[in-house]
Amino acid sequence: MACEDGRAMEVRLTLNGKPVRVEVDPRERLLDTLRYRLGLTGSKEGCGEGECGACTVLMDGVPANSCLVLTAQCRGRSVRTIESVDAKALGPMLASGATQCGACTPGVVMTALWVKENPGLRDSHTLRELMAGNLCRCTGYDGIIDGLHAWVESDARSGGAA
Ligand code: FES
Ligand code: FES
Repeated sequence: MACEDGRAMEVRLTLNGKPVRVEVDPRERLLDTLRYRLGLTGSKEGCGEGECGACTVLMDGVPANSCLVLTAQCRGRSVRTIESVDAKALGPMLASGATQCGACTPGVVMTALWVKENPGLRDSHTLRELMAGNLCRCTGYDGIIDGLHAWVESDARSGGAA
């Protein structure tokens, strides 16, 4: 992926726990850098305008729509994508009909991970409220919420962070 006007800038960030250096177009979206420059195609493009959440990644531990973030804004920051998530750990999350076509699933999982890693969020918000930025055209959301409950509860039973 070449820079259209020949200008490139260097961005160093931490990506999925590892230091990464990329040369990007200053106007390049994080979603495009991940998918087309770094080959991390797990993050999906749905709307491309911050509405659907399919492109959700964690930036410094907080969900962000990578279609709205410039890669240049990631300098010195930590970005986590769906590729960092152990698929085996997702069993309870995905066993309840939380995924059908799967287009929303990577974004759903990243937001769910944020919820799971920050149990205090659930003191003031319901799971449905916390997941409100991730749209799904297939499941009707019940499977996603049931799956998230199961994921959290399975960790609680095993002594992990709930
Ligand atoms: S593709 Fe980014 S929010 Fe829809
Ligand atoms: S499973 Fe198809 S959009 Fe959510």
